[in-house]
Amino acid sequence: MSTIILGIESSCDDTSAAIIKDGILLSNVIASQSVHEEYGGVVPELASRAHQQNIVPVVDTAIKRAGIEKADLSAIAFTRGPGLLGSLLVGTSFAKGLSLGLRIPIVDVNHLHGHVLSHFIRRNPDDTVPEYPFICLLISGGNSQIILVKNYNDMEVLGQTIDDAAGEAFDKCAKVMGLPYPGGPHIDRLATEGDASRFKFSKPHIPGLNYSFSGLKTSFLYTLRDAKKLDPDFIEKNKADLAASLQRTIIEILLDKLKKAIDLTGVKTVAIGGGVSANSGVRQAIADYCDKHGLNAFIPERAFTTDNAAMVAIAGYYKYLAGDFCHYNAVPYARITI
Ligand code: KG4
Repeated sequence: MSTIILGIESSCDDTSAAIIKDGILLSNVIASQSVHEEYGGVVPELASRAHQQNIVPVVDTAIKRAGIEKADLSAIAFTRGPGLLGSLLVGTSFAKGLSLGLRIPIVDVNHLHGHVLSHFIRRNPDDTVPEYPFICLLISGGNSQIILVKNYNDMEVLGQTIDDAAGEAFDKCAKVMGLPYPGGPHIDRLATEGDASRFKFSKPHIPGLNYSFSGLKTSFLYTLRDAKKLDPDFIEKNKADLAASLQRTIIEILLDKLKKAIDLTGVKTVAIGGGVSANSGVRQAIADYCDKHGLNAFIPERAFTTDNAAMVAIAGYYKYLAGDFCHYNAVPYARITI
């Protein structure tokens, strides 16, 4: 008999549902929330309300697009954390209610595990997936971690940011440039037209495998503040070069520690995940490095870099196969680590 998992993701500002059948993705529906744009960041209460409006049609559409019936489902996987509590409550409560109605189990998924395991989502049976152990560079708006992935449920954080995440560095610097939120994709687009060697920003000098991005942010801020005193149009005139130089610096910081982790562990496979792994420069740099050093690189489809339920469904699929179910008294967590 087939194993069919409904995945539900509602940790931040995307309501998403996906169906995975025997490890193969049948549908992945995402409703993004534009309501936050005018505030320059996600407003938690507005996010929960939008999830409540979106969740029924999103799940319904995912089931229809997959060409299955609700009665075919084996289990429901949902994101339990980390994320915004109000948002997580919507997905968690919905998963519990539907599972009681259908008399099928629920499986709780750590959102960060989902990002790491997104590389196991197959569209076709012969799609290749990473072999354990591998290193995953998880870079998003809230995290920058180097993770040694030993199994679907056995992950060790080798290094992580001690202040800002890589996505925050993109977003905060973009905000100083007057770009809309989230700024990462705007920097990515502008960087393609700019000279990446034009500006130099500070890089951290901290030992070990941890990251730090707050010094870069400060140095970017001061460069712009001082230059604007001399020329009020400085940002507008130099935005492509600023974006390209900022992106290059972030990539150099990311790669520096990643290379150390690869050397230390001797792993042969490297994957990236999280919102920042959609960045063209990051993708190219990782692919080039792996190519040059004979490593296998797993670069996710852009659809699987940001929050999506396909990754929740695949993480839930492996837990389901292991009989690792969740109790109805499980509550969401705002913060959990790997
Ligand atoms: O994983 P994600 O969707 O959720 C959070 O952890 O919040 O990541 C969102 C982050 C934001 O900081 C956004 O600016 C960044 O991913 N991002 C990018 C790109 N696309 C999204 N950063 C750089 N280049 C991109 N193309």
